[in-house]
Amino acid sequence: MHLWKQLVLAALPCLPPALGQSVLDLSGDGWTVSSKALNISVPGRVPSQAHLDLFAAGAIDDPYYGLNDFNLRWIGNNNWTYTSKPIQGLSNKSKSSWLVFNGLDTFTTIEFCGQFIGTTDNQFRQYAFDISNVLSKCKGSPTVSLNFGSAIKIANEIAAQPDAPEWPAGVQGTFEFPNRWFIRKEQSDFGWDWGPAFSPAGPWQNAYLVQFEREEGAYVLNTDLDIYRKNQINHIAPDQSQPWVVNASIDYLGSLPSKPSMAIEIKELESGKVLKSGSLDNVVVTGQTITGNTMVDADAANLWWPTGLGKQNLYNVTVTIQDSHQDLASVTKRTGFRTIFLNRSNITEEQLAQGIAPGANWHFEVNGREFYAKGSNLIPPDAFWPRVTKAKMQRLFDAVVAGNQNMLRVWASGAYLPDFMYDLADERGVLLWSEFQFSDALYPTDQPFLDNVAAEVVYNVRRVNHHPSLALWAGGNEIESLELPEAEEKAPEQYADYVGDYEHLFITLILPLVYENSRSISYMPSSTNNGFLEVDLSAKIPMVERYKNGTDAKGYYYGDTDYYNYDSSVAFDFDGYPVGRFANEFGYHSMPSLQTWQQAVDDEDLHFNSSTIMLRNHHYPANGPDTHNYKNTSMGMGEMTLAVQRYYPTPNEHDSIANFSAWCHATQHFQADMYKSEIQFYRRGSGMPERQLGSLYWQLEDIWQAPTWAGIEYDGRWKVLHYVARDIFQPVIVSPFWNSSTGDLDIYVTSDLWDTARGTVNLTWVDLSGKPISGNAGTPKSKHFSVGALNTTNIYSTNMSKLSLANSQDAVLLIDLIAQGHLPNAESEALTTFTHRNQFTPVYPKDLELKDPKLSLLHDAKTSAFTVEAKSAVSLYTWIDYPAGVVGYFEDNSFTLVPGEKKTVKFVVQKDETGGKWVDGVTVRSMWDQTTRS
Ligand SMILES: *[C@@H]1O[C@H](CO)[C@@H](O)[C@H](O)[C@H]1NC(C)=O
Ligand SMILES: *[C@@H]1O[C@H](CO)[C@@H](O)[C@H](O)[C@H]1NC(C)=O
Ligand SMILES: *[C@@H]1O[C@H](CO)[C@@H](O)[C@H](O)[C@H]1NC(C)=O
Ligand SMILES: *[C@@H]1O[C@H](CO)[C@@H](O)[C@H](O)[C@H]1NC(C)=O
Ligand SMILES: *[C@@H]1O[C@H](CO)[C@@H](O)[C@H](O)[C@H]1NC(C)=O
Ligand SMILES: *[C@@H]1O[C@H](CO)[C@@H](O)[C@H](O)[C@H]1NC(C)=O
Repeated sequence: MHLWKQLVLAALPCLPPALGQSVLDLSGDGWTVSSKALNISVPGRVPSQAHLDLFAAGAIDDPYYGLNDFNLRWIGNNNWTYTSKPIQGLSNKSKSSWLVFNGLDTFTTIEFCGQFIGTTDNQFRQYAFDISNVLSKCKGSPTVSLNFGSAIKIANEIAAQPDAPEWPAGVQGTFEFPNRWFIRKEQSDFGWDWGPAFSPAGPWQNAYLVQFEREEGAYVLNTDLDIYRKNQINHIAPDQSQPWVVNASIDYLGSLPSKPSMAIEIKELESGKVLKSGSLDNVVVTGQTITGNTMVDADAANLWWPTGLGKQNLYNVTVTIQDSHQDLASVTKRTGFRTIFLNRSNITEEQLAQGIAPGANWHFEVNGREFYAKGSNLIPPDAFWPRVTKAKMQRLFDAVVAGNQNMLRVWASGAYLPDFMYDLADERGVLLWSEFQFSDALYPTDQPFLDNVAAEVVYNVRRVNHHPSLALWAGGNEIESLELPEAEEKAPEQYADYVGDYEHLFITLILPLVYENSRSISYMPSSTNNGFLEVDLSAKIPMVERYKNGTDAKGYYYGDTDYYNYDSSVAFDFDGYPVGRFANEFGYHSMPSLQTWQQAVDDEDLHFNSSTIMLRNHHYPANGPDTHNYKNTSMGMGEMTLAVQRYYPTPNEHDSIANFSAWCHATQHFQADMYKSEIQFYRRGSGMPERQLGSLYWQLEDIWQAPTWAGIEYDGRWKVLHYVARDIFQPVIVSPFWNSSTGDLDIYVTSDLWDTARGTVNLTWVDLSGKPISGNAGTPKSKHFSVGALNTTNIYSTNMSKLSLANSQDAVLLIDLIAQGHLPNAESEALTTFTHRNQFTPVYPKDLELKDPKLSLLHDAKTSAFTVEAKSAVSLYTWIDYPAGVVGYFEDNSFTLVPGEKKTVKFVVQKDETGGKWVDGVTVRSMWDQTTRS
């Protein structure tokens, strides 16, 4: 698949020009990519990366195919030079001229008209270079040349310098290439346990040539729009009765007259109504930044809400810089009015009285309301960002919303998301917990490094601050919870220094930069933490982290949790799951489906332990380019095999590809069941003393085709997990909690609605042929319940020994809920009906005496719906599958059917390359088909 060819960006010759300036977009074709050392030269484009241009030119195979992750490492080990074609159409009466780069990956030496212009060393910064002098002396049409160094080599060179910091062995999370922590480049470009290691290089974002024809003029480099409640301060709950402050700040190139003014227009998009217009107050110019503000009445704006909690009301804000008689520059940002706050305050008396355990809060509040955060962790959707299309990300965000997810954690160590992804999240109501790009390592703190980070932080905080989907800034990932404890264990005598360095970078440096550029967003130094003891903005270390203070005290809870356990024997023991206020990471890996493997692997390699499949599995990390070392991958592959063997029937099909496919599917069953078990447990915690208010599993989607923790495969295909998560993320759910060692069975209804829901749960025991079990095995047939706002209620408790089950291997408890309640911020007062089906078997699937349900599948061409029916036995894990060539999802999947029961679902087509023929390739199966039959 040559996905990137879809990325024919409309190459605008000129942006809407502001007064007296011309802007030449250097993006598009007409570039050359070359390596002198390798004697290669191919056509290139901007934005791009060398791998993509080499692939497009036919100079290399698809980087994602087979073992090219290993075979193409020579690309990352070499320099690549991007040279533009001669630039036409430059103004000859310009007063000054600039090259503006929105993103260069990463180490660049820039020449213009053959003259040295400057260097760059941070993938995440925007750079502008004054080329006026060089241009004035340039004969003919100039070219731009960007010589990209090998980040792999440069990282090693920095590490080899005599004054480079060192850390104890085993502390720094190392994947394929070492020393990523010395450079400001996407950290997963050097490998991660779910991805390849290409270390791409190139102009990965747009580039412009800006010229000013007059002394005065402004080109907008970046805009910071901050909307907050008056007197709001990042770490304190905002007062919803206060008016809004709209603070607009523009970073510009050029120069302004001595007394510039600013004007604003705030327009509601749905109604077209102007909420506010006029000039901004308190206009100040500092350096190359102009800032002003205005107020909006407390209740004047329609609020923006996350999906499921209300509407996503959006506004266009246009800010104009003016002198006494004309507009000098203007910028429009789409935004929303909301407060989003990470509450880490101490538990109050009032909360204690509600049964909430002491300690501290650790949950989000939107517009002053607590809510349950449901979602997952977003990793880079591709190893090569320039080929991430808006269309593909639309499909992904639609899948997020269809999956009942309202929050994604944008994990530290990919890249800061492009604005178009925040835009998609704004429209769909998906909150984006955003992180600075630091992960699983300790980082240097020398001044040049800190200065480089500071510029990166300021640029990105300002760039994305207007997006209502922005939910949080976190310094990095697993540094406080994993790296510091690791360092303490390995080098206790230096531990205090490591903590000092950590606080220097993530608190003393970054916190004030966030607060100075945003009043609206909470900050924490690292994901997974126990909150803070104190914030004092005038102190040298403005946030005093709690670390482990008090966390050993029984019955006290403080923070969020991050939990992995690859011993599958305890996968369903909820007693071992962490109890905390919020779960921001948990999971287990599984195989992608056959159709996805076929995009990347030759047919002869399609078996579970082929060298290609094994080497594409990076859990545990391959640690270098040795394609003969199977030790680490064997462990990870073994974990999947063992998990299947422990709990599920093991497939044994004659046809080797069918067998491979069934095994891949089996690993997905385990994964989905385990996540479901954890999510149910965490959600139930909303009504337990821990008052648990979030479940974000690891991970939303894949970067390529490989075994990973993802719920959505590389091209958009849903694994079993994404369907099961969608089911268990519904507002009102019913869940069995079975302790397999004691035999205790408890059934809970959990709701994240904002007021009470009432209804009934039917409990129906049947055998596997679907016949009712006599006396319903001693279980009441139905239970009425009422469940409070963001709460849980136990509806039934028993012990398996008390039930009259003749054969526990031939029994299934169907658990059917119907409830009525109000959706948060619903437009009408009417009650909404919620249904949920769950099921419970007293033994694991491998020990069930499964019978052939004789599934039938009908397609109705008129309604384009599929109807599945179990004709003769209970169908567990009923799975409708679709062929390659189409992307989309069924409205429901992986469900239980009893004989005679029919299920009709539509397939939501997101992309179809088969001209509708995919319909003929739809199949249905169930757990029965996974069993070994002779
Ligand atoms: C490779 O690129 C780096 C960064 O631009 C530069 O410092 C170095 O001189 C380049 N080396 C060659 C051989 O071009
Ligand atoms: C809002 O702003 C965007 C981007 O500048 C523009 O394309 C769109 O037309 C504007 N919408 C309205 C209703 O003004
Ligand atoms: C919160 O509780 C901790 C003890 O866990 C205490 O040290 C801290 O001062 C309290 N913070 C506030 C703001 O009361
Ligand atoms: C959850 O519901 C129980 C039972 O009604 C109630 O006692 C408890 O206070 C509720 N919890 C919260 C946090 O509202
Ligand atoms: C308690 O918090 C202080 C201040 O952050 C920190 O220095 C100390 O190490 C913490 N103690 C523990 C046991 O985490
Ligand atoms: C529960 O059982 C009753 C009686 O058979 C039936 O009317 C009702 O529809 C069932 N409810 C659900 C949610 O299945």
